[in-house]
Amino acid sequence: MIALGSDHGGFELKQEIIAYLKEKNLEYKDYGCESKESCDYPVYAKKVANAIVSGECDRGILICGTGIGISITANKVKGIRAAVCHDTFSAQATREHNDANILAMGARVVGPGLALKIVETFLNTEFSNDERHIRRIEQMEG
Ligand code: RB5
Repeated sequence: MIALGSDHGGFELKQEIIAYLKEKNLEYKDYGCESKESCDYPVYAKKVANAIVSGECDRGILICGTGIGISITANKVKGIRAAVCHDTFSAQATREHNDANILAMGARVVGPGLALKIVETFLNTEFSNDERHIRRIEQMEG
């Protein structure tokens, strides 16, 4: 199950991602926001982060204007590894090396075409399970 969240700045891109997930028959849960009306990204970052640490969802996608505020907030929740990615190389690397459990993007930074490629890469790339990456991830939580 994929957890989705955005603020007003990310609302429209989130709708594009929802359409993509539906087309691929991938299960998702949208934790808000519900419209383009101005709202506070920490509310939705925390909802998605908590859905992942509770085990309700496996991975999350968070979108705000830049991807920054929403990822900083999510990363304050223990067990969350949220990565801002605006290219497919980073999306692949953060899954392989960091076992990132949340992808964050800025809807004012990337267009929908690239954003969907980044989503696809993030969802289809497995963690390397390499001993050195496991060790470094453990050190993050230390
Ligand atoms: C909202 O205007 C904007 O600050 C937010 O979407 C995000 O970019 C914050 O990091």
